Amino acid sequence: MQGAAFIIWTQLPTNILIKGKKMSSSPVLSYSISQRAVHWLTVLLVLFNFISGSVFEGLKEVRAAGGTPTPDMLLPAQLHAFSGIAILVLLITRLCLRYFQGAPEVPADEPPFFQLVAKLVHGGLYLMLILMPVSGMAKMYGGIDLAGFIHAGPFKLAILVLIALHVAGALVHQFYWKTDVLRRMTRG
Ligand code: HEM
Ligand code: HEM
Repeated sequence: MQGAAFIIWTQLPTNILIKGKKMSSSPVLSYSISQRAVHWLTVLLVLFNFISGSVFEGLKEVRAAGGTPTPDMLLPAQLHAFSGIAILVLLITRLCLRYFQGAPEVPADEPPFFQLVAKLVHGGLYLMLILMPVSGMAKMYGGIDLAGFIHAGPFKLAILVLIALHVAGALVHQFYWKTDVLRRMTRG
């Protein structure tokens, strides 16, 4: 009986043993279509939030002058909030997809230092995609001014720096190292 269990154990695909979460033994070479869709939809929504974020300055000025913001000004602010919450939902979806479908390994021939930087930047992006919506909600629905300050100041700067590093990394892969990293997030 113990021998049979041992045989089954040794026959299990290695990545089930290592990660305990993937359903197939074939290595993951690319992101799935759903992972790619979530990635690029997130990019569009983040872009939208950077554009629509500027409306809050105008709202502050109107309120500081004792006026009432017009619906024209409130709509972009509401859309900013909904889009930010959608980013958070997409992030949770993305983490679930990553857990069940896996993700391609960092290219093995990439220098170890850059492998580490890529992992840190990805981790930082995941973190900021949680912290940005949470701090925005804390300001908008909780009335916490400090959260608004952090959202529009340090967090905004941090996510911008991370995105810049991330895009620079993707471009270096594509044009300098000439790897297929960009393709696995585009054509697959
Ligand atoms: C990843 C998601 C998000 C991004 C990238 C983002 C980005 C931004 C940006 C760029 C600004 C303008 C900062 C400036 O004045 O230069 C801003 C302001 C603001 N956002 Fe977001 N945002 C996100 C999610 C949210 C969510 C979910 C909410 C609310 C439900 C929200 C509420 C606000 C508020 C209230 C402000 C004004 C803060 C203040 O100046 O006190 N944001 N956001
Ligand atoms: C708002 C902007 C962006 C955010 C928040 C973002 C976020 C992320 C995250 C979190 C990952 C890691 C996926 C994982 O392994 O779980 C990733 C992967 C990737 N992103 Fe982005 N991304 C952004 C913009 C871009 C842009 C503009 C490009 C192309 C120039 C790009 C190309 C890629 C590629 C190629 C990968 C796969 C990297 C790999 O396989 O090691 N991303 N992105």
